[in-house]
Amino acid sequence: MTTTELPLLVLGRGTDSRSEPGVDCPGSLPAASDPDLVARARAAKEALGDRVFVLGHHYQRDEVIEFADVTGDSFKLARDAAGRPDAEYVVFCGVHFMAESADILTGPDQAVILPDLAAGCSMADMAGLAQVEDAWDALEDVGIASSVVPVTYMNSSADIKAFCGKHGGAVCTSSNAQVALEWAYAQKKDAKVLFLPDQHLGRNTAVRELGMSLDDCVVWNPHKPNGGLTPGQLRDARMILWKGHCSVHGRFTAQCVDDVRERVPGVQVLVHPECTHEVVTKADLVGSTEFIIKTVEAAPPGSSWAIGTELNLVQRLANAHPEQHITFLDKTVCYCSTMNRIDLPHFVWAMENLVAGHVVNRIEVDPETERWAKVALQRMLDLPARTAGKD
Ligand code: 13P
Ligand code: SF4
Repeated sequence: MTTTELPLLVLGRGTDSRSEPGVDCPGSLPAASDPDLVARARAAKEALGDRVFVLGHHYQRDEVIEFADVTGDSFKLARDAAGRPDAEYVVFCGVHFMAESADILTGPDQAVILPDLAAGCSMADMAGLAQVEDAWDALEDVGIASSVVPVTYMNSSADIKAFCGKHGGAVCTSSNAQVALEWAYAQKKDAKVLFLPDQHLGRNTAVRELGMSLDDCVVWNPHKPNGGLTPGQLRDARMILWKGHCSVHGRFTAQCVDDVRERVPGVQVLVHPECTHEVVTKADLVGSTEFIIKTVEAAPPGSSWAIGTELNLVQRLANAHPEQHITFLDKTVCYCSTMNRIDLPHFVWAMENLVAGHVVNRIEVDPETERWAKVALQRMLDLPARTAGKD
């Protein structure tokens, strides 16, 4: 029997600095069952004081969120990271691409730390730089690259953001995808957008917010010659969607929506725009994680919600709002496994190392990538503020 080399680094096996899921934690990690972990985390945080700034994404576990100085979606956290130039250490409780963005937006003397390097993102891994460069070459061959503006979702690696910065494009998040696309289409006459790496956010925004038709969108499959598209299809398209998706939000189906409506009379279905177009079309409300939180917070007691986003957030909302009926849209449990890699033992390990003067798991983007990724991120930060979320 012959063995084939796996194209992806399997979680838990060694470290590859070029890949998101590196997994080494030098030294010993506190045991998950250690009853003193909470006290140790508190003590380390107190010892570091203002020298450390802890950021927590909404999909993090409760045990970690408890120690976050600020919580937010990826857009808010990017802003927050840029707003604390005095903090020596920025401990990012989120995933690798978020920590990279924080490194790009903070000063050279600030160290950004990701408590577990295995906290990657399968969606970000679906667009590699070499694949995107090949796609761009193909667009050049078809003669349309000069009218294409690349826009990448925040959920992408720093080198994809840099690619967008270099080619006149920008970054967007689920909070500002509509404004970012309006900006992109205003950049050139008869502009087309190459949207990376989440086809669902791209399609949902183009069709629901910008009034395009599904026929205006084509899907570029990086595993097929010429993306699996003909030159004519590329020339006619207004939106070229990269074939990537979120493995968590991609689980929700139209059947889940039908089932919950049958189970819970009067329920309102509230989903993230990383869900498929079919799910989003059947939902009552669609928006970023910040939008989902604000919607629930503003709802009257007795409201019923079926929420289609990561389970840690849905559970936290349900616990915080016992006066409402909050349920998870899927019947089966689904956490984001990579977000969940950041647990209390890794957090304590990173913080205690900082107290001892050792910077572990520092996320550093190389200067050339940083320069161009910053251009794309800054274009996003300069967009007029408008939060996504519509019925
Ligand atoms: P936002 O934080 O932009 O809502 O994105 C959701 C997500 O999947 C983060 O990984
Ligand atoms: Fe990536 Fe989806 Fe997890 Fe977000 S929820 S980190 S997009 S896999």
